[in-house]
Amino acid sequence: MEFNELKHRVSSLIEKQDVNQDEKLRLICELLKAEVSHYDWVGFYFQNEDKEELILKAFAGEPTEHTIIPFGKGICGQVAVSNDNFLVDDVKAQNNYIACSIDVKSEIVIPLFVNGKNIGQIDIDSHTAKAFDKDDEDFLVWVNAEVSKKMF
Ligand code: SME
Repeated sequence: MEFNELKHRVSSLIEKQDVNQDEKLRLICELLKAEVSHYDWVGFYFQNEDKEELILKAFAGEPTEHTIIPFGKGICGQVAVSNDNFLVDDVKAQNNYIACSIDVKSEIVIPLFVNGKNIGQIDIDSHTAKAFDKDDEDFLVWVNAEVSKKMF
């Protein structure tokens, strides 16, 4: 599915009545994983209240044991600190990386800002090397901005 079409699907999902925030996040993960062939695992991590750690709040794909990630650790933990998008063409080339599955070859993590504060992130793994480009990055920045505007 084209990213433009997918944007409409994400928007209508976010606007659903009678669906709570956690469930909406999970549905977004399911939608993205189902409709984008190179998205093999999709999850949202959010910062724990007053601790410098991320907690997995919603995901689609294989369950992971990495439901809590300290700031600074792995790709996710680095984004919690840097506030920057992080595209990884080859996870094996990263020293500071937390492996969730041996099948994962590339990864993208995009921070989620609410009122200018980095409160979490969307994390996507792919079984294809070098799977993510500027189009994925732009699309996921848009998804996080929508989630921020309409769900927080
Ligand atoms: N690979 C991530 C950990 C999360 S899993 O991809 C689900 C990282 O290095 O932070």
